[in-house]
Amino acid sequence: MGKVFEMDHPLIQHKLTILRDKNTSSKDFRSLVTEIAMLMGYEVTRDLELSDKEVETPLEKTVGKEISGKKIALVPILRAGLGMVDGVLSVVPGARVAHVGMYRDPETLKPVTYYSKFPKDISERTIIILDPMLATGGSLIEAIDEVKRAGATSIRTLNIIAAPEGIKVVQDAHPDVDIFIGHIDRELNDHAYILPGLGDAGDRMFGTK
Ligand code: URA
Repeated sequence: MGKVFEMDHPLIQHKLTILRDKNTSSKDFRSLVTEIAMLMGYEVTRDLELSDKEVETPLEKTVGKEISGKKIALVPILRAGLGMVDGVLSVVPGARVAHVGMYRDPETLKPVTYYSKFPKDISERTIIILDPMLATGGSLIEAIDEVKRAGATSIRTLNIIAAPEGIKVVQDAHPDVDIFIGHIDRELNDHAYILPGLGDAGDRMFGTK
């Protein structure tokens, strides 16, 4: 079963409270998502493999460390996932950025992928799927399916807020995927919004309400 990491860092929890506030402007909302994604990016990369690397300081030779395992590709789910890209890139600037776009089929209510663009070497990379809200889990499951179809085998997700229901369905569908979360909220309401949540992340980010 994939692991679930809830990040309890005081800075993340503090910024999350401002993010939830309905009076926070779109401008501040975007900045906060970037800052939270940067802090989460630090945690999600904590277990990256290191190897020794010789380096010469102005005084002498020594042996430092360098990241030596799989390279990273970020996969934001359009559109709210885009808001997390810059924050994570600020701690892993060499990561590739792939994209997945989805809409909900009005008849089946299932997410359908209408766009995806991945690096050719996706199977050799650690994939970090970005979506601020893990609600029903439907679009995250479809995004994971999509990166697996493209050959990815090492996958983790980064979600700022998650509902317990969504975490469970993702874990059941993809037991090999680790889920990194800023905060696990109480539940989903009848319209698949997370409670207490923060409303529609995409609308608040881009001012489209
Ligand atoms: N997506 C959002 O943006 N907000 C929710 O509460 C659920 C899904």
